[in-house]
Amino acid sequence: MDFDLTEEQRMIQETISKFAKEEIAPVASENDKKAHFPRDIFKKLAGLGFMGTPIPHEYGGAGFDYISHAIVAEEIGRVDSSMRGTYSVQVSLVELPLLKFGNEEQKRKYLPKLTSGEWIGCFGLTEPNAGSDPASMISSAEEDGDHYVLNGQKTWITNAGIADLAIVYAKTDKDAGPKGITAFLVEKGTEGFSTKDLHDKLGLRASNTGEIYLENCRVPNENILGELNKGFKVAMGTLDFGRFTVAAGCVGAAQGCIDICKEYAKQRIQFGKPIASFQLVQQMIADMVVECEAGRLLVYRAGHLKNKGEPNTRETSIAKYYCSEMVNRVAYKAIQIHGGYGFSGEYDVERFYRDARINTLYEGTSQIQQLIIGAIELEIRAFT
Ligand code: CAA
Repeated sequence: MDFDLTEEQRMIQETISKFAKEEIAPVASENDKKAHFPRDIFKKLAGLGFMGTPIPHEYGGAGFDYISHAIVAEEIGRVDSSMRGTYSVQVSLVELPLLKFGNEEQKRKYLPKLTSGEWIGCFGLTEPNAGSDPASMISSAEEDGDHYVLNGQKTWITNAGIADLAIVYAKTDKDAGPKGITAFLVEKGTEGFSTKDLHDKLGLRASNTGEIYLENCRVPNENILGELNKGFKVAMGTLDFGRFTVAAGCVGAAQGCIDICKEYAKQRIQFGKPIASFQLVQQMIADMVVECEAGRLLVYRAGHLKNKGEPNTRETSIAKYYCSEMVNRVAYKAIQIHGGYGFSGEYDVERFYRDARINTLYEGTSQIQQLIIGAIELEIRAFT
C-alpha cells in the first residue's frame, strides 16, 4: 500500500491549488452574494485541462487518473463549493457517462466541446415527484420514426440554465420500472426543450440550478446514450462517478474550513491570548483535522479502485456518506471557532456552512447511501 501521491499527482495538486487560491478564492464570496456564475473562471479551468481531467487525450481530455480527478475537486472545493459543483457535474455527471456509455460518434461529437469548456453539460434525472426514487419518474419518450418525442419535467438540475447539452432520462416503457428508462442526449436549442432557473437556495448560490421542461421535444434516435431501456444503469453508473467528486469536494471544503480557522484562531485574542492556545479550541481543530483526513483516505481508496477499473459502488457510497456528513460537522465547528463573527456574511466560514448542507442531499441522500451500503453488506435490498 502506497500513501504517497505520484510526482504527476503532486504537480496537478500544486497547479490547481495555486489557480484556486489566486483566481477562484478572491471572487468566491462576491459571486455567492450576487448569485453569479463566473463563466470566465470556468473557461480558464478548462484551458488548463481541468474540465476534462479523467478523459483521454483523444477526446480532448487531460488523461489524468481518478485520484487526480479527486484532487482537482478537492482543491476547487477548498475555496468555492459552487465552482466545485459545476466541475463535478461537467466532468463526472456528463463527460464520464459519455465516455463509459457513449458510442464513438457521440464521444467524438460531444467530449471535445465539453472538455474545452466551449459547452457546459447537465444531468437531468430528478423530477418533482421522483427524487430518491428515480425509477418512478413520469417523463416519457415515445418513438416517432427516426426520433423520440420527450415530455416531462426535471428539477434541481445543476447547470440546467447554462447547459448546452443535457443528459435527460425518460420512460420508454412505462410498465417496466427501472428497466423501461432510457438516457437521451439533448442539445440546447432543440425545439420543446426549455429551462427555468431556481433561486433562493441556502447554498451554492454561485452555481446555476434549474428546472428542465420537455414539451414534445424531438430527439433523434442516434442521441440515445447507451441502450434503449438501459438508462437506469447509465444513471446509477453515472452517480458512482458523481458521488466520488461530491465526496472529494467535501474533503476540500473541510480543509478550507481548517485553513481559515487555523489562521483566525492564531490572530483572535481573548482573555489576553490567541484563542488557538485554548485547549477547547485545539480540541475542535483536532477533531476537524482527524475527520477531514479520514474522509480523504476514503475518497482516495474509492479512486484507487476506479483506477483499477474494479467495482467501487460500496466504497464510493461510503466516501460520499461519510464526507458529506463530515463537512457539515466541520463547518459547524468552523463557525463555533469564529464565535459571533462566524454568523456574518463577511466571513467565509458562513458561506462554507451554507454550502456544506446540500452534500447530504444531492446525488443521493445520506439515507440512500446507507441503504446502498446496507444492501451490499446484507445482500438484501430495502426497496424490493
Ligand atoms: N451501477 C450500475 N448498475 C446499478 C448500480 C450501479 N451503481 N446500482 C444499481 N444498478 C442496477 C441494478 O443492478 C439493477 O439492475 P438489475 O435489475 O439488472 O440487477 C437496477 O440498477 C435497479 O437497481 P435497484 O433495484 O437497486 O434500484 P432501486 O430502484 O431499488 O434503487 C437506489 C436504487 C439506490 C435507491 C437508487 O434509486 C438511487 O441511487 N436513488 C438516489 C437517486 C439520486 O442519487 N438522485 C440524485 C440525482 S443527481 C442530482 O442530485 C442533481 C444534480 O444536478 C447534482
